Parts: sequence; C-alpha cells; structure tokens
Amino acid sequence: MAETLRVELGERSYDILVGERLLAKAGAHIAHLLKRKQVIIITDDKVSRFYLHRLTNALEEQGIGYRCVIVKSGEGTKSFESFGQLMDNILEFKPDRNTTLVALGGGVVGDITGFAASVLLRGVEFIQIPTTLLAQVDSSVGGKTGINSRWGKNLIGSFHQPVMVLADVSTLTTLPKRELLAGYAETVKYGLIDDTTFFEWLEKNGAAMLAGNASLQAQAILTSCKAKASIVAEDEKEQGRRALLNFGHTFAHALEAETGYGDTLLHGEAVAIGMVMALHTSVAMGLCPQKDVDRVLVHYAATGLPSAPASLPVKWDIDRLMDHFTRDKKAKDGKLTFILTHGIGKAFVTQDVNPDIIRDVLAKACRA
Ligand code: NAD
Ligand code: GLY
Repeated sequence: MAETLRVELGERSYDILVGERLLAKAGAHIAHLLKRKQVIIITDDKVSRFYLHRLTNALEEQGIGYRCVIVKSGEGTKSFESFGQLMDNILEFKPDRNTTLVALGGGVVGDITGFAASVLLRGVEFIQIPTTLLAQVDSSVGGKTGINSRWGKNLIGSFHQPVMVLADVSTLTTLPKRELLAGYAETVKYGLIDDTTFFEWLEKNGAAMLAGNASLQAQAILTSCKAKASIVAEDEKEQGRRALLNFGHTFAHALEAETGYGDTLLHGEAVAIGMVMALHTSVAMGLCPQKDVDRVLVHYAATGLPSAPASLPVKWDIDRLMDHFTRDKKAKDGKLTFILTHGIGKAFVTQDVNPDIIRDVLAKACRA
C-alpha cells in the first residue's frame, strides 16, 4: 500500500508515493506520466546490483523501453568531469524532448539526474526513485539539483522539479547502517526546525526505525516529505522560508569541503554535526536554552549520530573553515547567513551573527 502526498506547485505539481515494494510496480506507477514510452535510467554501480533488474522488469511489464547509464557510486560523481561523461552517455542514446530520465539511487544520483534533466535539450522531465533514507526524506523532493565544484558543494545547479517521487521503503533493507544513520540526521532536522511533536516522536521511535522497522520508517518519511512539500510549495526558489531546510548545512558544507567529500564524513553526518554547531551558536548568542542542546545530544547518543568533528581523523584549520562560509550560497553582499534557533522546533534565518562567536564554536567543537 502506498501513501500519496502532493507537492503543490501549480503546473509543476507532482505526487510523492511512499510505501513498501513500490519498485516492483514502478512501471504501472509512472506509465501515465511518460510522453514517450522510453526512459533513460541513471543509477550507480552499487544500487544497480540490488535494484536495476527490479525496475527494468517493472518497466517491461508495462511495455516501457529503457536505456541505462551506470555511474560510479559516491560523492565524487558530483564533479564537473563526471557530469560531462554522464551527459555524453545520455546523448549517445539519442534522447528527444519527450524522453524522461529516471534517477534510481541516493542523493548523488538524484542530484546529477535532476541537473542533467534540466539542461538536456534545454530541459526534459525526470522521475526520482530514491533508495537512501536521506534521499527519501529530503533530496528527492523539492527540485534542487546540482554538482560540486572545488569552491564548494552544490555550487553549480538548477531548480528543476521531478514529475514524480517514488520512495520504496523496502530498498532501505540493503542500505548500510552508516548511510541509514546519515539519512536519519536529515529526518531529525525537520523536528529541530519547526516540529517539536515530530522530534518527540523520533525520541520515542528513532532507535526502532534505525533498527529496520519499515512501518516506522514509512511514517517518518511521510512526515518529513509533508514538511518539505509544504515549505517548497511556499518558497520553491529559496527566497525565504526554504532556507530553514539548511539548518546545520552552512557548518556541514564547510566540514565536507575540508574532508574532500569522501568517506571520512558523509553528508548526513556533516549535517548532524552542523546542527549541533548551530545549536551551540544559538546558546552562545543567548537565543536558545542549554537544556534544548542537552536534550538533542541525549537523542544523538541514543541513536549514534555524531555530534562533533573532533573525533574525525582530520587536522581542522579554523581559518579555512571560516573561509568556506563566505562562499555559502546563502551569503548575501558578503554577509553570512545562518539558520539559528530559539530551541527545539524554533529555527529562524538570520544575518545577525557575530563571526567571533562562530569561530569560538568551531574551535571548541574541533577540539571537543
Ligand atoms: P549517495 O547517493 O552517495 O548514497 C549513499 C551510498 O549508498 C552510495 O554508496 C550508494 O551507492 C549507496 N546506496 C544507495 N541506495 C542504496 C541501497 N538501497 N542499498 C545499498 N546501498 C545503497 O548519498 P545520499 O546520502 O543518498 O545523498 C547525499 C547527496 O545528496 C549529497 O551529494 C547531498 O549534497 C545531496 N543532497 C541533496 C539535497 C537536495 O535537495 N537536492 C538535499 C540533501 C542532500
Ligand atoms: N535540502 C535543502 C532544500 O532542499 O532546500
């Protein structure tokens, strides 16, 4: 049984389907959306081993033709060079404007497929079939697409909405525990931003969800997607409220840039740490009670989320970390923009941040 949510964006509105074993019926779910019964699937070399056959069988059942491009798994695939190769591989299949791209994989596959769809022949449609928790609760929804540059993460990209998101919870059974936990960080984010009730729910159910309870996973994905859909419907191009979804991300992107976007620090892990840094900054500025940070840290300890960069095998340079902030997409006229909080569920966007406080929070976290 699938639950359906709608992202309301006028003529760019689309459904998010969440449920178990959806992949086996993917052809039936997407057939009505296709302008031409021919798709190009983009997936990675890990996901393809588990799920490509399931998807192609489901397409064949509906008489939908397909071609596949299999990229290398990992954040390195979000480079300019890999993207060039991807476009070349897609073009080899002679797509036309009625061709639909299908992203089968995590946030990396989703981001590059969305970006490819936005520039291929000046724009074609694409479908998201997210297979990581992170992609199911966050990256597959909302139309942010892109690749990284040596100057920072996701600095080259576009807003391009998918025509459907198909989140098959059953695919999470093969996801490594570390990846599941990284995705859990983005789930906790929704509670911390503006939903205390959801944070309480996660305090109660998070551990069981991480242990593999599919029904709890589906509930958490639905709540997260509902929250994201509502924010995106209100502020698609991040002129205001959508920036809240970047809670912890300014810190996270700096940490990721310093660790080289690899296995040392996964994106979700960086977000987990970044959210704690944002909470510490808020406390240091007298905005947030310390007890809220303590409560979040208790939940982190209970679920295994990382809370500080000090444990990583990295020699942190505070000046370099600070330098990354000036390249953040949210920086305006040289002014840093941060998402801070008055407490759990009370995040807000501000430019009123003292860089000395940020430096101090970073220094403490890096030697904690
Ligand atoms: P990922 O796509 O690299 O996937 C993580 C790993 O899990 C990869 O090795 C992948 O091959 C493997 N994998 C995926 N699904 C699997 C499955 N079901 N079973 C076994 N292995 C599986 O990483 P991610 O955490 O999904 O996404 C991170 C990316 O998402 C980052 O690049 C980040 O910038 C981006 N992101 C984008 C948005 C957005 O709004 N567009 C939001 C958040 C994050
Ligand atoms: N992940 C942040 C956003 O989609 O806006």
